[in-house]
Amino acid sequence: MDKKNAKAVVSVPPEAEVSARVEALLQRMSLDEKIGQLTQISGADFFPGPKADDIIRERGAGSVLWLNDTKRFNELQKIAVEESPSGIPVLFALDVIHGYRTIFPVPLAMASSWDPSIPERAQAIAAKEARAAGLHWTFGPMLDIARDARWGRIVEGAGEDPCLGAVMAAAQVRGFQGPYPGAPEHVVACAKHFAGYGAADGGRDYDPVYLSEAQLRNVIFPPFQAAVKTGVGTFMSAYMDLNNVPASGNRWLLHNVLREEWGFEGFVISDAFAIGNLIIQGFARDGRDAATRALRAGVNMDMASNTYPQNLASLVADGHLKLADIEEAVRPILAIKVRMGLFEHPYVDETLLDKVVALPEHRQVARLAAQRAMVLLKNEGGLLPLSKSLKNIAVIGPLANSMEAIEGSWTVFGHQPAAVTALEGIRAKLPQTRVEYASGPEIRRDIPSFLEDLMPGAKTPAQAPEEAESAFQEAVATARRTDLVVMVLGENADMAGEAASRASLDLPGRQEELLQAVIALGKPVVLVLLNGRPLSINWAAEHVPAILEAWEPGSEGGNAIADILFGDVNPGGKLPVTFPRKASHAPLYYARTITHQPEDHPQYRSRYWDGSTAPLYPFGFGLSYTTFSVTNLKLSAPRIKVGDTLLATADVTNTGQVAGDEVVQIYLHQRSGSDSRPLRELKGFERITLQPGETKTISFQLGPDELGYWSTSAGRWIQEAAAFDIWVGTDSLAMLHADLEVVCGE
Ligand code: BGC
Repeated sequence: MDKKNAKAVVSVPPEAEVSARVEALLQRMSLDEKIGQLTQISGADFFPGPKADDIIRERGAGSVLWLNDTKRFNELQKIAVEESPSGIPVLFALDVIHGYRTIFPVPLAMASSWDPSIPERAQAIAAKEARAAGLHWTFGPMLDIARDARWGRIVEGAGEDPCLGAVMAAAQVRGFQGPYPGAPEHVVACAKHFAGYGAADGGRDYDPVYLSEAQLRNVIFPPFQAAVKTGVGTFMSAYMDLNNVPASGNRWLLHNVLREEWGFEGFVISDAFAIGNLIIQGFARDGRDAATRALRAGVNMDMASNTYPQNLASLVADGHLKLADIEEAVRPILAIKVRMGLFEHPYVDETLLDKVVALPEHRQVARLAAQRAMVLLKNEGGLLPLSKSLKNIAVIGPLANSMEAIEGSWTVFGHQPAAVTALEGIRAKLPQTRVEYASGPEIRRDIPSFLEDLMPGAKTPAQAPEEAESAFQEAVATARRTDLVVMVLGENADMAGEAASRASLDLPGRQEELLQAVIALGKPVVLVLLNGRPLSINWAAEHVPAILEAWEPGSEGGNAIADILFGDVNPGGKLPVTFPRKASHAPLYYARTITHQPEDHPQYRSRYWDGSTAPLYPFGFGLSYTTFSVTNLKLSAPRIKVGDTLLATADVTNTGQVAGDEVVQIYLHQRSGSDSRPLRELKGFERITLQPGETKTISFQLGPDELGYWSTSAGRWIQEAAAFDIWVGTDSLAMLHADLEVVCGE
C-alpha cells in the first residue's frame, strides 16, 4: 500500500467540520448506502451468505468483524474506497479483550490489581498492536457487573462491585482510545453489554435478567456511565431479556438513559445477531418488526444479523420508518470515521505490526500487570516466598505447562499462543534446581462450546480413563521424588468466557483428588490457581499451606508466578469478587441488604443448614509477604449537611519485614432511610507501597455521589439525612469504624 496513505493523522477536526462533512456525505448517499453504514458484516470464512467483498462493492458497509488479517483489511478497504458507490471506508472491528499479540491478564485479573494504571497501560498496548494490524475498533471493555461465579463471562469484567467496576471501566476506555475515539495508535472502544447481562438467571449465559431500576442504577450502570464520561465511542446492546424487554429492543435503556440522561453521542451496535434474535425471543413478529423496534430503541448498527439490510429499505418505502430515522442512526457512525481520519488514511501499513509487536516494553508491561494482578489467598507458616536454592522441586498439574491456560479466555482470531507457562517461568527462575514436571490427568469441558466448532484445527481426542490413571500415578510419583511441590490447577481457557457457564465451582476433573494424593505425601505444597472465575476450593483452603490466585495472567504469566513464588515480587492484589464455598450459594456478594435474621448474628448462624454461607474468601481480600495495620480513622467532621463533602483519613503502616503493597478500602452503610441500604458499599480505594516500618496517611472524599443513591421509594436519586457507618481497612470485612451523621441542609 501507498506509504503516504498509511500514515496516521495526528489531530481531530473541529466538531463543526465533522458535522459539515457528515451532512455532505449524507447528501450524496443513496438510501441503500445509508443502510450499508448501519450494517456490520462478517469477514469470517465460516459465515454463510454473500462474501464481504461483494456486499461492500455494492453498497459499502459500516463495519466488518471476525476478520484478523492485515492484507485482507487493505483489500476490502480498497473495494470500499475505490469501488463502492460513495467510497466510504469500513471500520474493522474485533474482540481485543486483553491483548492483541501481547496478552495481558484477563480483565477480572486486571481488576484484581486495584490499580487502574494497569488496565490503562495494558489496553493502550493492546490498542497499539491491534491498530498496527489494521483494526479500528474493539468490542471492549466488557463492563457487566457479575455476582454469580457460575456465569462464564465473569472473567471478562471487573467483578462484583460498581465502584471498582467504574474505575476499571474508565481506565480501560482511556487505554483503548487515548485522547479521542479513533486517535492514532489507538482503537475505538465499545462499552458492553448494555445492560444487565451479568445477572443472568442461574448464572446461565444468555438467560433472562430481572433487575429493579434501583439495582440497575446503583449497581449495574455505574461502569457504563463512567465509560460515557470518559468519552467511549460506542456501546453494545446486550442479548438477553431485561425485565421482559430484550436489551437490544429496549428504548428506555438505549435512548432514555444512554442518550437523554447521560448524553452519549457515539453509536450503539447490537450484540451479534441480537436484532434477528428479537424474533426468537418472542418479542418481534418478524424481521420488519425487529428492524423497526431495534432502530427505534436506538441501535445504530446491526451486528451480523442482516435484519437491517433486509428490511430497512422497504420500511422506509412504505412509510413505516422515515428517511430521517435512518439518517439519524447513520450520523454518529460517519462522524467517528471522519474524526479518526479514515477518509484521508483508510489503509494500514502492512509492515507496521511486526515492528510494533516486537517492542520489549509490551512484554514488560504484561509481566508487571500479571505480578500486580495476583492474589495471595493463604500463606500458612510463611511457606512463601520459597528459597531459590531448593535442590529439586516438582511442578504438577494439567495447567502447569499450558500456554492456553496462562493466556486465558478470549484471545483474537487466529492467535498463536506464545506465553511463558508456569513451568517455564519456574525453570527460568531456578537454573540450578532440578525442576520435574508431570501434568496429571487432563481436564476438559463435559460439553464442548459451539465456539469450538468455529475454530479451525483438529480437536484432540479425550484421554482414555487408563491414560488418565497412569498420568495420575506418574504425577504422584514425581511429587514423591522431590522436596517441594507446586501444583498448578484450575480451569482451561475454554472453561470461562462466553457460553462457558457451569453448575459447579469445584476444580474440574480429578484435580482435587490429585491435590489430596500429593498433600498426603507430607511435603510442602504450594497451590497456584489458573482460572477465570472464583472457585470453591474449600478442601485446599483447609489443607494446602499456600495458595496463590494467579487468574489467567497472560503472555508473561509464568514469569510473574515465579517472581512471586520466589520472592522477587511481593503480591498485593485483592479479590474483585467474593469466593463462595459452593456454586449453589451464588449469587454471593458483600453488598447485600440486611433482612430478617441477619446471618452474621450468632443465633442465626447460617442461611443454609448444610454448611456456612459465609464466603470462603471475601471481596477485597488478599495477603502479602508483609503485614499492615490500619489505624487512626478520622473524619474531618462527625456531622455534615446533606450536599456537603467530608474527608476520611486513616494511617496505614507496614508492620512487617519487607516492602509491600496494600489496598486501602473505604466502605459505608446508611443505617436507615427511604430504602434499606446494603450492609456496606465500597466508596473508594487506593493501592500503596510501603517500606518496612513506613506509615502513610490515606484520605478519601465522601460527598453527595458517595452518600446518595437511587431510591425505589422516591423513584429518583436522593441523598438523605441519616446516620452512617464508615469502615476503613484492607478488605470488605474491615473493622476500623467511625460514625457519621448527615443532617438536613438548612
Ligand atoms: C459476544 C460479544 C462479542 C461479539 C462479537 C458475541 O457473541 O457476546 O461480546 O463482542 O460476539 O464477537
